[in-house]
Amino acid sequence: MMDLFQKIQGDFIGLDTMYTLADGRKTRRVYLDSTASTLMMGAAHSAIQEFYNHYANTHSLLHFSAKISTQEYQWAHDRVLSFLQADQETYTCFFTGSGSTAGINRLARVFRKYQPEREIAIISLMEHHSNDLPHRKYAQKVIHIPLDNHDGQPGCINLDYLENVLKTNRGKIKYVAVTGVSNVTGIINPIYDIAELAHDHDTFIIVDGAQMIAHLPVKISGHKNSNRNLDAFIFSGHKTYAPGSPGAVICRKDILRDIEPEEVGGGMVDNVFLDRYIISEEFPTREEAGTPNIAGAIGLAAVLEVLDTIGMDFINKVESQLINNTLKQIKQIPNVHIYGETDYSICPRSACISFNIKDMDHGLVAAILNDYHNIAVRNECFCAHPYVKEMILDDLLEATTKLNEEDFEDAFKLKSGMVRASFGIYNTDDDAEELVKAMKNISENRDYYSDLYSLDERGNYVHSSFKMNGLEQFSIKSYVDHYVNQKQV
Ligand SMILES: Cc1ncc(COP(=O)(O)O)c(C=O)c1O
Repeated sequence: MMDLFQKIQGDFIGLDTMYTLADGRKTRRVYLDSTASTLMMGAAHSAIQEFYNHYANTHSLLHFSAKISTQEYQWAHDRVLSFLQADQETYTCFFTGSGSTAGINRLARVFRKYQPEREIAIISLMEHHSNDLPHRKYAQKVIHIPLDNHDGQPGCINLDYLENVLKTNRGKIKYVAVTGVSNVTGIINPIYDIAELAHDHDTFIIVDGAQMIAHLPVKISGHKNSNRNLDAFIFSGHKTYAPGSPGAVICRKDILRDIEPEEVGGGMVDNVFLDRYIISEEFPTREEAGTPNIAGAIGLAAVLEVLDTIGMDFINKVESQLINNTLKQIKQIPNVHIYGETDYSICPRSACISFNIKDMDHGLVAAILNDYHNIAVRNECFCAHPYVKEMILDDLLEATTKLNEEDFEDAFKLKSGMVRASFGIYNTDDDAEELVKAMKNISENRDYYSDLYSLDERGNYVHSSFKMNGLEQFSIKSYVDHYVNQKQV
């Protein structure tokens, strides 16, 4: 299996992308921003190109291409369900617009109507805003469950606290909605234990699988104890090696069947009269109004086919080793603080590591990693403000003792964020080594680098002499102009 894994690992679009750096060197980009969006798998790219020969609208009926498109788009739904081990009798899969965010908003609206008498949505303190704000908007009340505390470092969702809240509020809870994996620390939550607790207390479980699906095996149904099955699962194709693909929702049909779909329009009705319309009973038809992102869904399914062939257990094992080794090496670097429990045996994590370098702003470190090391990372709060703020509280308290009130706000802004290095299956030990080397270099040369940068009026770090010229590095207009010129020759 290692052989196939390595071949697939080397077959992603963008692994050889080169940029010119602040010191004039032109080097290969090391992409460590997969938690935001992954690179595209070669197999999916190629499958989509092939499919375009047959592309047609799935709402057309009788011509060859319409039939092929419809058949392949249906296959994409089935592939998602089988990849996630969701029984097709019980569950449906439908695709949504803007990634997981669209899917979670949709489910929050579904549950607002499904059990209107229940007021409470339970989530955790480590949620991405997309698995927090929709529940605040559509449930009357949201309870944030705190996290385990390992000597000041946060871990998984605190199950005792959750159980207590479930017990105290029994009969009033719409659902528990939790992330499978944190997009900040990569910490993995025990979702099947949480499912069992939720079901034991007469409510549902929704899992935000945005950071889980590409890294861990998922089993939605078929657990020996059926209380460990999940009721709904959401994920994003652009975080699953298929940029340009839609988000996906997997949900129990009986929940959806009970209420009118939130979105209406073409393709999801059996008949329309001037005074009424009859919604299709079919899944996923009734949940997908309008022309879907057909090619995107097919590309996503192609990725899942490849991942399944390699095996998610295998992928998880390889990635766990990479993360664990990287964690160990980063822990040795002076002046670096890693967020979240770092002992893998206490708190397993997947795919990402967030950190700060002492006395350096996260924006400055991310800029140096890019400008001098060609390492692409994300910084700031990663759309998880409550979680990030909770973790940097100690830094803030320290800041308040040193600063007067006027300077506090500035210091707060300066410190309210982290740097996140995140991994996909294309990342190797070499990439991790590059990161560790760069972090050591920055940590040892903090003053040198700090003197080279200043903050612009928008709060971004700008180099004193090096300006990245995006148009020089790449421009679609130039590409298209060149393409058209060639046609004219
Ligand atoms: C855990 C988690 N949930 C939800 C989202 C939102 O996903 P999308 O941007 O695809 O809507 C993200 C995005 O980073 C995430 O990491």
